[in-house]
Parts: sequence; C-alpha cells; structure tokens
Amino acid sequence: MAFISISSCLLIFFLLITLPDLSSAYLKLPLLRKNPYPPPPSEAISADSRRVSALHQRHGHFHTKLPITSAASSGSGQYLVSLHLGTPPQRLLLVADTGSDLTWVTCSACRRHCPSRATFFPRHSTTFSPYHCFDSSCKLVPHPKKHFPCNHTRLHSTCRYEYSYSDGSVTSGFFSHETTAFNSSSGKLVQFQHLSFGCGFKNSGRSVSGPSFNGANGVMGLGRGPISFSSQLGRQFGHTFSYCLMDYTLSPPPTSYLLIGGAQYGGAHKLSYTTLLINPFSPTFYYIGIENVFINNVKLHISPSVWAIDELGNGGTVVDSGTTLTFLTEPAYRIILAMVDRLVKLPKSVDPTLGFDLCFNVSSELTPNLPRLSFKLRGGSVYAPPPRNYFIDAADGVKCLALQPVAPSSGFSVIGNLMQQGYTFEFDKDRKRLGFSRSGCSVP
Ligand SMILES: *[C@@H]1O[C@H](CO)[C@@H](O)[C@H](O)[C@H]1NC(C)=O
Ligand SMILES: *[C@@H]1O[C@H](CO)[C@@H](O)[C@H](O)[C@H]1NC(C)=O
Ligand SMILES: *[C@@H]1O[C@H](CO)[C@@H](O)[C@H](O)[C@H]1NC(C)=O
Repeated sequence: MAFISISSCLLIFFLLITLPDLSSAYLKLPLLRKNPYPPPPSEAISADSRRVSALHQRHGHFHTKLPITSAASSGSGQYLVSLHLGTPPQRLLLVADTGSDLTWVTCSACRRHCPSRATFFPRHSTTFSPYHCFDSSCKLVPHPKKHFPCNHTRLHSTCRYEYSYSDGSVTSGFFSHETTAFNSSSGKLVQFQHLSFGCGFKNSGRSVSGPSFNGANGVMGLGRGPISFSSQLGRQFGHTFSYCLMDYTLSPPPTSYLLIGGAQYGGAHKLSYTTLLINPFSPTFYYIGIENVFINNVKLHISPSVWAIDELGNGGTVVDSGTTLTFLTEPAYRIILAMVDRLVKLPKSVDPTLGFDLCFNVSSELTPNLPRLSFKLRGGSVYAPPPRNYFIDAADGVKCLALQPVAPSSGFSVIGNLMQQGYTFEFDKDRKRLGFSRSGCSVP
C-alpha cells in the first residue's frame, strides 16, 4: 500500500511538469475485436482452468490476469486498440485490459533490415528513451527478481521491469517513455510526449504470446494504478474512460470506441451507476459490489457475504475487459447453475470437452427460451444483460451457460468481456463509480 501512495505522488509530479493543458479535449480510439486464431475448445478450457488456478496463487500487487481467448464458438475474444508510438510513429495493436496497469509493447532491438513482423523497434525512433534505474519513475514498476542494485553514477543503467499476470505469463524489458499520438475528438492529431510504457524484450506465457494473443503487439493497461494508460492520460483528459464492446452477434458489427476523458459515451444516454470499491491488496482492479442475483426476477438465496472482499483482500468482483468469460465465486456459481438447470426444459447436452458445466441441446428450438440473469449492485442499480451475454453457442445446436466457478475466499469473481457486450461502461475514477447503459454503444 505504501508503494502505491508513494508512486501516485511521483507520477503526478512528473505529469505536472511534462504535460501541456488540453483538458477540454478527449481521446476517441476505435476498438477492434479480433479472433483470428481461435483455439479449439479443449485448449480454451485448459487456459481458463489454468487461469482459475492462477487466481488461487496471488502474489503481491501485480497478480493481474490477462486475456484468455475462450472457445471459438463464443465468438468473443479480445478488444484491441491501435496506438502510434515513436518518431516517426509506428502503429501497434494493443489489448485493452482493465485488469492490469502496465502498458507494454513487444520490442525488438533490431536496427537495420528488420523483419516486418509487428513489434516496436526503439532504434527506429528518435524519441525513445528508457528510464534510468535511479529515476523516480522506475519505482513505479516491479523489477525482476534477479535485480542488480542501481548504480546511479553509471550512465547506462536502464530501468528493468518484470510484470507478471496471474496465469503465469510474464513480460520483461525496459521501462521507458515515448511520444505517442492519437486522433482526438476534434479530429486533430494529439501528441502525448511522455507515455511511460514497458518495452518488452522477453514475453512468455500463453496470454502474452502465441495464438491466444491474437496478433496483438502488447497490452494497454487501463487499471486503476498510477502507471496505467488511463491514469497517465487522465491528468490531461480527465480520470474517466468509457468503452462499448461490440456486440458480435450484430451484423454488421457497429464500430465502437474507447474514450479517454470526460466526454460521456453515448452522449445524452442515461447511465446507471454503482460504486467502485477499493481493495487495498489489489489496487489495480475495478471492484464492484454484487448484492443479489436474480433469475427471471426471482431472487436467489445467496448470502451477501459470499460476494464480499475479506480482510485479506480475497473475494469481491472485478470488471475486466481482458478476460472473456465470467467467473463467479462458489457457492453462488452452484446456486445459479442449479436454478438455470431447473428452469430450462430443453434436453441437456453432456460433453465435457466443451468446458462448461451446463449445456443444452437447442437444435429443436428456433428461439430457445432462456432464463434472464440479473445482478443487483451496490447502490441499487441492476445489471440485466441479455442471455446472449452468458449463453454461448459452444457447438452446433448446443448452448452452454458461459460461467466458470471460482473457489471461495481464495479467488475473486470476474465480470468478463462477454458479459459486458453491447453495453456502454464508464469508469469514473474521480467519483469512484462505474456507469453502464444498454444504449449508446455506436454513437459516442
Ligand atoms: C558504479 O559505476 C561506477 C562507474 O562505472 C564504478 O566506478 C563504481 O564502482 C560502481 N559502483 C558500484 C557500487 O558498483
Ligand atoms: C487518425 O485518423 C486518420 C484518418 O482517419 C488515420 O489515417 C490515422 O491513422 C489516425 N491516427 C491514429 C493515431 O489513430
Ligand atoms: C440434439 O438433439 C437432436 C434430436 O433432437 C439430435 O439429433 C442431436 O444429435 C442432438 N445434438 C447433440 C449435440 O447432442
């Protein structure tokens, strides 16, 4: 905790001295959905179960988790944002992730005759600069375990970082800063001259490399910590960001955006709000409080304590754009499963390779009648997404309840991006609240 409060002061300090005032503008970045290399369902399951087990081994403040591509059939995956980094600008695609703080890109030290594969080439940029290990900014990132003490009299002692995700994936390299550019709301190109980011020379683990990374070149950390993209740019544009994750079932899919700054997504659309809770053990995450769960408007008997964050920081529910499926704590998961099982009269489809506990054979139904799940949140607002946000087509004629269990008191619940689809979400860090609305997705 001390680490974070010190860090925030440092960050605010260097942002104050480096940024011009552009407070009236906001950033509008198109969000792309990509799923070009869907893993077979069995692979998706193992990834998700690995992720769940990783949730049980939380270490320090950086046990964030990352994009796991779920079954191809879910049609969902990661949401990517395009970023121009360096001088002259190099275009990169980053996974938009509210579940982590560090923004990083895959880096290559290549100078000449570089392969065209998409990575950032710092040697092709005149504005790239790694932080010195003695720089106050270097204290904002976790360092490799085998870390040489900083020798501040030496000129080339770069700031090394090592950032781990909860599934064991790791990115490491130089914590650096660069010029970045975006199209602002007014259509002008806005330069941001001091984006702190990780230049990742060594990235391993299935969620930051390989097919499940979906051709992304890095991660845009949108978490709550001081080094996140949204926190860094918040100084200039306001500590609010919003997005709408495209509804993949619509054809053609609407264009949706990540907005950084005070402008409200969807303009005049009214948002419902719930409080963003703080877990001092996990300052990265956006926690919300679930109070009750309803199925077809019937309240389930789940003790509110099931959803609480305990004194060790376990439990609670986070909103994460970088995780596909929704993970719910036991025993809530079992109770929901049992209720859905009771209400749906369709024949069950038992196929363990699909990776879900409850699947139905819907081949006889044109429009199967599926139960409606809703969550009553802290403050009284109700999140009632449509069934397609939690029933996915796992195979031909088979729909599965797209939820996964999390062991109580050792993990936490996650509202994944499938559950968020088709909604506008507004993360308002100043007022500590999360806004959401069913409308306004395609009209920022
Ligand atoms: C720090 O670097 C200087 C210059 O390279 C060197 O003389 C000095 O011995 C180094 N100090 C330590 C503690 O390694
Ligand atoms: C800004 O918009 C122009 C035209 O729409 C586009 O060509 C360019 O790539 C965009 N730049 C960024 C940084 O998104
Ligand atoms: C679903 O039920 C139909 C009969 O109504 C059957 O022909 C089909 O094989 C079943 N599909 C699965 C995946 O079990």
